[in-house]
Amino acid sequence: MNREDFAMLKGDIIYFDNGATTLKPRVLSESTSAYYNEYSANAHRGDYDISLKVDELYEGTRLKVRDFIHAASTEEIVFTAGTTDSMNKIIFGFFGNILHKGDEVLITKSEHASNVLPWFELADSLGIVVKYIELDDNKKVTLENVKKAFTPNTKVISIAQITNVVGDIRPIQEINTFAHSKGIYVLIDGAQSVPHIEVDVQAMDIDFLAFSAHKMYGPTGVGVLYGKKELLEQMRPIEFGGGMNASFSSDGVRIYDDLPQRLESGTPNIAGVIGFGSVLDYLQTVGIQQICAQEQKLHTYAITALKTVPNIILYNEFSESGIIAMNIKDVFAQDLAIYLNKYNICVRAGNHCAKILKDELGIKNTCRISFAMYNTKEEIDRLVEVLSNPKLKEEIL
Ligand code: ALA
Repeated sequence: MNREDFAMLKGDIIYFDNGATTLKPRVLSESTSAYYNEYSANAHRGDYDISLKVDELYEGTRLKVRDFIHAASTEEIVFTAGTTDSMNKIIFGFFGNILHKGDEVLITKSEHASNVLPWFELADSLGIVVKYIELDDNKKVTLENVKKAFTPNTKVISIAQITNVVGDIRPIQEINTFAHSKGIYVLIDGAQSVPHIEVDVQAMDIDFLAFSAHKMYGPTGVGVLYGKKELLEQMRPIEFGGGMNASFSSDGVRIYDDLPQRLESGTPNIAGVIGFGSVLDYLQTVGIQQICAQEQKLHTYAITALKTVPNIILYNEFSESGIIAMNIKDVFAQDLAIYLNKYNICVRAGNHCAKILKDELGIKNTCRISFAMYNTKEEIDRLVEVLSNPKLKEEIL
């Protein structure tokens, strides 16, 4: 990996908001502009050369995604608009059809909105019950607490593999083993994990996984819905239209396509999917283990360095991922982010769409530092220097 591969890193920007979206390598704009300038036909609809080329590249990305997450088949890979879209499709298209009044779904209070609100909607429409797995003192999920939350009515566990504020890495494999022994389905929000740690859906026995391309150096507007084939076969599309049906007639008889096309209606984000393919090639040359190791080194270094900052409050120093939630005592999180912006340091401030986490953290807003593979120790040193400025509060006022 070269920092020069990322055009945005040319200037003096220090980008620590990778949990929101990552910067993009040049291969992304090169491949998407090649699509727009050289062969911008639709997918799955044409019998002429440029359209066939589109099909080959679009389906090529599906193969690359299959390999990246170690899925058994390309039928298990559905392209969506992003994690939120994937989560909604799984929750309404699969769980909306199999859950009944009184069934329980277990989530946690550190989940992102897209793993909370769809469940609240199903609670209203179906009468299912949303329950919370208790977090331990470090805001982590333990298998023991999952077992404690379990009742005979538990039908689903729906959790992030890595949460977007606390940054804890959940013991997914152990949770799956327990859940499957009780006949419980597990839905994994992989938005913050797939870009940062190796995810093997077969080895981990994952039922459903949702993630976004834009948080892994790819384009916005592209996501992935992974599901075991036997589960996707039972999933009802929640969008109907062209590209997902084999035939329909005036009497209402219709036949939908096989997987995965049945779950991809309408013209997809072709440029995005093709661009994502080129980014996956790029990521394979770097290696997910190297990315993970680099980010964990940065995390360890940053925790030690940040502890020297006067009046800092660290909310998740024991998390293992590259996400750090912090505040400076008596400084409003957003004011701190605006102050850091003066020094060209980008962090996210606020509740980060995890709006019930305040019940656990005891505070609504934090500043979040989230690393990617291109971040450096020198950038962390600069952050620490700027945060240690004795005039910080004066500059904010
Ligand atoms: N979910 C994204 C974040 O954590 C947007 O910032």
